[in-house]
Formats: sequence, structure tokens, C-alpha cells
Amino acid sequence: MRERVFILHIWIRIWHWTNAVLILTLTVTGISLHFSAPGLMLVPFELAVQLHDRAGLALVATYAVFVVGNIVSGNWWQYMPKPEGFWLRIRNQARYHLWGIFRGEDPPYPPTATNNFTAMQQIVYWIVMYLVMPTVLITGIIYMWPDLAPQQVLGVDGLLPIAVLHFLAGLAIVLFMIAHIYLGTCGSRVSTHLRMMITGWHEHG
Ligand code: HEM
Repeated sequence: MRERVFILHIWIRIWHWTNAVLILTLTVTGISLHFSAPGLMLVPFELAVQLHDRAGLALVATYAVFVVGNIVSGNWWQYMPKPEGFWLRIRNQARYHLWGIFRGEDPPYPPTATNNFTAMQQIVYWIVMYLVMPTVLITGIIYMWPDLAPQQVLGVDGLLPIAVLHFLAGLAIVLFMIAHIYLGTCGSRVSTHLRMMITGWHEHG
């Protein structure tokens, strides 16, 4: 018998897919801008600048929706790592991803109405959404209005550490996204989590 639990409200799903489209746009245009040798670009320079700036500003707005939505709906609590049985849950989950999944076992901690994330998701989502995303957005805003940057930091141009942080935070998000898409296929079926992110319902069994 398949169990069906409603997990994700419509606002989170709309936020999530808008966020995913914007980040994919920022990734393709960001790669084009970073490796901007003539003739080698994915997207022509001028177009890449326009798209990157606009998608970046839109991401600031959608991030604000995410933070306010999480506070108002109480969803922020899902992101807080819970200490009880933490290491055991991490161990069981690591075992599942390295071994159990290849033997057709069921995930040890499927989402429930009260506990949406695994211990690993809580930590990773918290770091990505509350540390890395603000870093990429704040450095992006300073990059767009460079007068906001300090004149000098430790004897170098103040924009240099901003540029390095922007690049590293962007890279972290891209690496997260690759792992996140793979882990999104690790439910009881390959499509279980992806369907949940579209319909809001988690179907188990
Ligand atoms: C094409 C790209 C993406 C796909 C296919 C995807 C897929 C998914 C899936 C299947 C889930 C359900 C839970 C899980 O399996 O972990 C999920 C949740 C989530 N994703 Fe993504 N994702 C994408 C991009 C992103 C990006 C770029 C971010 C952030 C920078 C992100 C942040 C999140 C967060 C925070 C949740 C939990 C939402 C909540 O329940 O509060 N995703 N995603």
C-alpha cells in the first residue's frame, strides 16, 4: 500500500523552481563571463552581462520571498539541525547512500509532515541557504555598485576580495546543485522527490 503525505506548500514549490531557473541562468552566464576569451564564450559577452545582472537582481527578490516565507510559515524550523540521535542518523544515511541504495533498500528517513528533511539535508540546506546564498547575493550587489566596496583591504583593491568571494560562493552553489540533483533521485523511487517538489505530495512504498 502506498502512503501519501502532503509536505510542500505551493509557495515553496514556486519559490524553488523560480530559484532553480535563475541559478541555472546565472551559472551559464557566470561561466561565460568568467571565461570570457573572444570566440570561446557560451553566451555573447553583452548578453551574458545583461542576463546575469537581471537574473541576479531577481534572485535577490526571490531570496527575500524565501526568508520571509520561511519565517511566516514556520518552515524555517525544518532547516534547524536537531541534536537528538544526530550521528546515528548521519551514519544510517551515509550507509544508505554508499551501500543500501544499490541493493534496493528503502531510504531510512523519508520525509514526514512534521520532519521534512534528513539530518544531512538540514545541515547542507542551512549552510547553502543562510550562509552561501547571502554571500553570493551581497557580493553580487557590491559588484554591481562598486562604490559600495571598501577602497582597500589589506593593501589590495577592495573589489578583489569581493570578486573572489563572489566566485567561490557561486562555485559552491553550482557544486551543491550537482549533488542536490543526484540526491533528489534517491527517494524510494527515482522520481519520488522530484514529483514531491512538483505536486507537494510525498508518495512512499
Ligand atoms: C534543476 C535544479 C534543481 C533540481 C532538479 C532540484 C530538485 C529538488 C528536489 C527533488 C527537492 C526535494 C527534496 C530533496 O530531494 O532534497 C528539492 C528541495 C530543495 N531544493 Fe532543489 N533542486 C534544484 C535546484 C536547487 C537550487 C539551485 C537550490 C538552492 C540554491 C535548491 C534548494 C532547495 C531547497 C532549499 C530545498 C528544500 C525546500 C523546502 O522543503 O523547504 N534547489 N530540490
